[in-house]
Amino acid sequence: MGAAELKDLLARSRAMIPAALGRTDMSHLLRGRSIGLLFFEDSTRTRLSFTMAAQRLGATTLDIGAGGSSVSKGETLIDTALNVEAIGAAALVVRAKQSGAAHQIAQPAKIPVLNGGDGRHEHPTQGLLDALTIAESLGRSAIFDLSGLSIAIVGDVFSSRVARSNIAALTALGAQVIVVGPPTLAPTSMTTLGCKVEHDLDEVLPSVDAVMMLRVQFERHGEAPPGSPDARPSSIISVRAYREGYALTSARAAMLKPHAVVLHPGPINRGLEMDQDVADGPRSAVLRQVTHGVAVRMASLCWCLGIPA
Ligand code: NCD
Repeated sequence: MGAAELKDLLARSRAMIPAALGRTDMSHLLRGRSIGLLFFEDSTRTRLSFTMAAQRLGATTLDIGAGGSSVSKGETLIDTALNVEAIGAAALVVRAKQSGAAHQIAQPAKIPVLNGGDGRHEHPTQGLLDALTIAESLGRSAIFDLSGLSIAIVGDVFSSRVARSNIAALTALGAQVIVVGPPTLAPTSMTTLGCKVEHDLDEVLPSVDAVMMLRVQFERHGEAPPGSPDARPSSIISVRAYREGYALTSARAAMLKPHAVVLHPGPINRGLEMDQDVADGPRSAVLRQVTHGVAVRMASLCWCLGIPA
């Protein structure tokens, strides 16, 4: 998606915010339709905000997850998706562990397929809601031109589909993106995506306008979560060293420019990548991101179904 199309979709998302909050009524837009929600991987925010988006637009949802569907009997994701289409869904939202899953389902499907996050690859509606939140927080939401802004994405960038979609969206809108993490989690090869790569967070923080913290995705490293008896975090050396180098502590947050905003896509590992008082503090846009997620998903569903803005 090029910058012009991206800006149009962001403007439509901004216009949906009052309806996302229930202050205006858009329930005529998708009345009588049903949206298939195929969440083959766990989700809180994305799943519920797509559900809310469909409901605010007057649509119903057809919900399935990996447990409780015939995927557990060996049915493929594509067969499952085509059956939900045959039942009558107007569009599908797909989240899966496999990179490329939504794209593969979109080939045989005759209805729009929205990617709700595929493996390490992309999470497009998250990229949109983050761009909307950054633009709004920094006074750029009139035309969504982010030129001159510098945005750091910090942590387990390699495992992160959120980072990949953000790099694509933010650079297309003119921002400079700097990814920051230890070399194992922020490899220099990521410069091919159009961002800078740095390994020293303290050097980067004073110069950025927004900082997006990412969760360490232990499950994608084949490791158990921290604190569990099986935890063997080889890819981050040690949890303590990771915190020392890359956590957004209160002391580090004090190095930011006065106007700089702090984001996190959730779920937050409180005390690992981010301190409690930063996550809940005045710079934090974390819950605004979530509200914007409903607006972005309303606009995206309408966009895919050809409903005029
Ligand atoms: C993320 C995801 O699932 O990609 N969360 C989200 O959708 N808001 C990030 C994560 O799991 O760390």
